[in-house]
Amino acid sequence: MEFQIKNSATITKQKSECFVLPIFLDKNQIDSVKELDLATNGLISQMIKSGEISGEIGHTTFLYSCSTQLKQKLLFVGCGKLKAFDLKQSKKVIQAAVKELLAKKVKEISWDILNINSSITLQIAKQLPQIVAQLTYRFDDYKSKKSPLASLTKITLLCGDKKLVKQANEALSQGNIIAQAISATKTIANMPSNVCNASYLAEQGKKLGKQHASLKVTCLGEKELAKLNMNAYLAVGRGSQNESIMTVIEYHGAKDKKAQPYVLVGKGLTFDSGGISIKPSAGMDEMKYDMCGAATVYGVMQAVAQLNLPINVVGIMAGCENMPDGNAYRPGDILTTMSGITVEVINTDAEGRLVLCDALTYVDRYQPKTVIDIATLTGACIVALGHHYTGVMGNNDKLVEQLITASNSAGDKAWALPIDDDFQDQINSTCADIVNAGGRDGGTITAACFLSRFTEKYQWAHLDIAGTAWQSGANKGATGRPVAMLIEYLLAQ
Ligand code: BES
Ligand code: MN
Ligand code: ZN
Repeated sequence: MEFQIKNSATITKQKSECFVLPIFLDKNQIDSVKELDLATNGLISQMIKSGEISGEIGHTTFLYSCSTQLKQKLLFVGCGKLKAFDLKQSKKVIQAAVKELLAKKVKEISWDILNINSSITLQIAKQLPQIVAQLTYRFDDYKSKKSPLASLTKITLLCGDKKLVKQANEALSQGNIIAQAISATKTIANMPSNVCNASYLAEQGKKLGKQHASLKVTCLGEKELAKLNMNAYLAVGRGSQNESIMTVIEYHGAKDKKAQPYVLVGKGLTFDSGGISIKPSAGMDEMKYDMCGAATVYGVMQAVAQLNLPINVVGIMAGCENMPDGNAYRPGDILTTMSGITVEVINTDAEGRLVLCDALTYVDRYQPKTVIDIATLTGACIVALGHHYTGVMGNNDKLVEQLITASNSAGDKAWALPIDDDFQDQINSTCADIVNAGGRDGGTITAACFLSRFTEKYQWAHLDIAGTAWQSGANKGATGRPVAMLIEYLLAQ
């Protein structure tokens, strides 16, 4: 898809196949609609009067070339009240319009949407490529019959305000990079577990490293992990035939090569059967998505490299598979983690925190500025926040706040949960330092409490994406969340 911005406020002068025009519930329409009305001898105002063209938000009217003076197709999109036209409304409008353009197989359009409200012009330019990517994304690698490619290939956005054009172009290309990162994350996450194991994640990381000179990729297999005493991580993968591999992607963008990096750690359980504490079979197929944290790290690192951010970032994909087997770890086992803290295994299905705790100890060597882990960690998070909000916890209020702010501006919602000391007693053990499962109550928070024991040396936040990383049912598939939120956070640094 090609996106471009053109410094123009007059749509009738454009040569595109189709014009997309915003219609408001107000008496006065925007200039381009007035122009068009003149060019068609009042046809547009007549159709607005008769209700055929409506300003109701999301309402669309598609016209094939309607007069000899005007060869273009026209798509009118209802935008509600002009005064209420904010980012949220604009997203609805873009969604409705793009859906209709795809249905009508339009190839190329000129769109007068940046000229409505200059205070959100840049935000719209950033969102638009993301919405288009979301509506055109397909995962059909394993379908015999591929869905046809979207016919829409070129979108020209008009921007009448000359002063805004440069910034709007920047916002548009940022939005496009974010859109591509989200799609890349989705595609890795959608891969089935018989293809996407830890070594597949490692290969994808290495490929990404080859594409960008600013990225350095290293893979640590079981031998290396054992040398580092990452025994909790290794225990989780012991029942699997697939090797556990931790992939490390380092990005150097800061002028000062030694500047403290931002570190991202993604849970990469390429399948979570629950292990010996095996999960019920219903819905177990969806545990192929238990590596969405790692897939998020992949997408964010791709974007960081493409955006040439002037910071240092380290991304870790903690690849592993949790399977029951004669060699698998068991409930009751006591593991000595890389940090020295001992853990009594209560439930082998609470494996994510065991993989993460060693990865979080490992990253201490970078003297990180901040560390953010991303994990499909607890079913309890879905109970608490549903499928709308990512859960945010951490040991630093400012970092948590920055992440929530980033999530709001990215439109990738997140909500803070408390992890005060009152919860810590739930992970006491009678025979080791801590247990790996703190019971049903406050399950998302006690999982974060567990991680907090391994992150005392730096500023840390934990994102529980169990409810947001993928969708079930008819639209089953990865969402690419929280890639947008994390890129927004890094852009703000
Ligand atoms: N990957 C799961 C969490 C999960 C479950 C995410 C369902 C999305 C949907 C995680 O490894 C897990 O099994 N957690 C357990 C922890 C419990 C045993 C303390 C859970 O949430 O039940
Ligand atoms: Mn589990
Ligand atoms: Zn899991």
